[in-house]
Amino acid sequence: MGDFTFWREKSVLVAGAGGLIGTALMRALEGRCARLVGWRRADGDLTDAREARRAIAAGPYDVVFFMAATQGGVADHLARPLAYVRENAALALNVIGACADSGVRQLIYAASTALYPDQAAGVLTEDLLASGPIEASHQPYAAAKLLGLRLCQACTAERGLCYTPAILTNVYGPGGSFDPQRSTLIHALIARAVAAHAVGEHTLRVWGSGRAVRDVLYGDDAAQALLRVAASQDPSTITIASGENHTVAAIAGLVAAAIGLKGIAFDPAKPEGALGRTLDVSRLRALGFAPLVSLADGIHRTLAAYRNRL
Ligand SMILES: NC(=O)c1ccc[n+]([C@@H]2O[C@H](COP(=O)([O-])OP(=O)(O)OC[C@H]3O[C@@H](n4cnc5c(N)ncnc54)[C@H](OP(=O)(O)O)[C@@H]3O)[C@@H](O)[C@H]2O)c1
Repeated sequence: MGDFTFWREKSVLVAGAGGLIGTALMRALEGRCARLVGWRRADGDLTDAREARRAIAAGPYDVVFFMAATQGGVADHLARPLAYVRENAALALNVIGACADSGVRQLIYAASTALYPDQAAGVLTEDLLASGPIEASHQPYAAAKLLGLRLCQACTAERGLCYTPAILTNVYGPGGSFDPQRSTLIHALIARAVAAHAVGEHTLRVWGSGRAVRDVLYGDDAAQALLRVAASQDPSTITIASGENHTVAAIAGLVAAAIGLKGIAFDPAKPEGALGRTLDVSRLRALGFAPLVSLADGIHRTLAAYRNRL
C-alpha cells in the first residue's frame, strides 16, 4: 500500500485522471492526501502549453503524477504515427516544463517499456533503455516518451527536482479502453472474444503468432507501485511491471476460457509488436512492491467491467 504518512500532508495532481492508470491512482489516493486533484481532458487539452500552465498553476502541488498520453494498440500506433509523436511530445514539453517552472518538487512520469531495444537478449535492466533499435510500430510513441524521460532527468540534474521516469509495462484493467482502435492487448482480446461469443463463434482470433511474451500488470497494482515509487523520493528511472512473463497465446487462452470460447486461432499476417522481453523489476521489488491481482483474476474483473459497460 505504500507509506501513507507520506501522503497525509501532500497536495497531489493526477494529470490524465480519467484513464486506466489515472482512475486507479485516484481511487488509491482518495481520502489519503491533504488535497487530491484529477485533471481530465475535459478540464483542458494539455497539448496546449497555456492549458498545461493553467493546470499546474491551480496548485501548489507537492507531487504530480503525469499519466496523460495519446496511447492505444498496435493498429492505432501504425495508423496515427504523427499523433503519437506530436501529441506525446507536446504533453511532455508542456506538463514537465510547467511543473519545473512552477517549482513542483516531485513528478512521476509514465514512460513505457517500448523504450527498451526490440531485440535485446536477456533481462532488461533500466540502463538498457533506448540503447538499441525500438520495435517499428512503436517508434513515434517511443521517441516522444524518450523526450519526456530526458526532460525528467534534466530537471533532476539541473534544478535539483525529483522527477522520476516510471517505465510502465502493459497495464490492463476495468478503466481501460475497449475501443478497437485504442485498446491494448487484454482489452482488445476481451472485446473480440465477447463479440465472437455473441455471434455463436467458438474461437478467439489472435493477431500474430501467439509466441510473443508480455509482462502485464493490473491497473490497481500499477497504481500501488507508482505510490511506492513516489514515496521513495528517488528520481532514478524505474521499471513498473509484474516480473512475470506470459505468452500472448496463454493470455488469449485465459480470455477465451473466461468467456466460454472453446479455443484460439492465430493470424500470423497481423502485427504483434515486440516478440518478447523479460523485465528486471528488482528496483521495484526493493521498494516492497508485489502485485496482488493474478492474471486470471484480473481478466475476470476486466471482463466484468466490459460486460457492465455493454
Ligand atoms: N496502459 C498501458 O499499458 C501503458 C503502458 C505503458 C505506458 N503507459 C503510459 O501510462 C500513462 C497512463 O496510461 P493509461 O493506460 O492510463 O492511458 P489512458 O487510459 O489512455 O489514459 C490517458 C489519460 O490521459 C488523458 N489525455 C490524453 N491526452 C490528453 C490531453 N491532450 N490533454 C489532457 N488529457 C489528456 C486521457 O483523457 P481522455 O480519456 O479524455 O482521452 C486519459 O484520461 C500514459 O502516459 C501511457 O503512455 C501505459
